[in-house]
Amino acid sequence: MNIILLGAPGAGKGSQATKLKEYYAIPHISTGDAFRSNIARGTEIGVYAKSFIDKGQLVPDDLTVKIVEERLSHDDCKNGFLLDGFPRSIPQAEALEKIAKIDYVINFVIDTEKVVKRLGGRRTCACGETYHVSTHPSNICDKCGKELYIRQDDNEETIRNRMAVYEKTTAPLVGFYKERGLVVDVDANGTIEETFQKIIELVK
Ligand code: AP5
Ligand code: MG
Repeated sequence: MNIILLGAPGAGKGSQATKLKEYYAIPHISTGDAFRSNIARGTEIGVYAKSFIDKGQLVPDDLTVKIVEERLSHDDCKNGFLLDGFPRSIPQAEALEKIAKIDYVINFVIDTEKVVKRLGGRRTCACGETYHVSTHPSNICDKCGKELYIRQDDNEETIRNRMAVYEKTTAPLVGFYKERGLVVDVDANGTIEETFQKIIELVK
């Protein structure tokens, strides 16, 4: 099953991907995680991507598409994949149509004040896990034991820019994929477990 997770910053795409990848036994491909890994390793891609990510802007389409195309060519994607945070613009979606066939686009429907609260308290681990201070006050990752950090783009000004970029450039993808009959709307205002149950009920 080839699935796209589409939703505003903080809608819970990464949190759901952690559970869905186990449930469907398919890899989780997050362009945001790929860029952060490059930034942490100080690669050329990382240095370039950081200049956009820190401002809450999108990394240019050509580089982002190249990274996803390379990743989707790996053997572990043959039985399906979960795309988290890609595509994020119409040109990315058009490029993806030439690379892979998509079965479902899960559209996370969520109130704006909820996402601001979620991002304001997010703690991230280099291993890819995310937590929220309200439910996980410790700053140590339960999965790998590393210290958690606050993402550089989780500050008020950058969050505002990310939300604006989402509305202008990414939200039109809902219509793009509705025309193709691929969209499943999921109310993402509930708990992580409630949203997960809704998704697996709808995506079979
Ligand atoms: P990316 O890393 O994809 O960030 P994002 O889209 O802004 O989304 P987030 O990761 O912030 O939110 P999420 O929906 O995954 O929420 P999470 O599960 O963590 O991208 C970062 C940047 O990289 C972009 O701004 C851009 O610059 C660049 N980039 C990436 N992809 C790109 C592309 N395709 N093209 C160009 N540039 C690209 O949850 C958030 C918090 O809420 C956590 O604390 C979590 O514990 C908590 N939470 C989650 N669900 C619930 C729930 N149901 N109830 C209560 N708390 C919850
Ligand atoms: Mg994420």
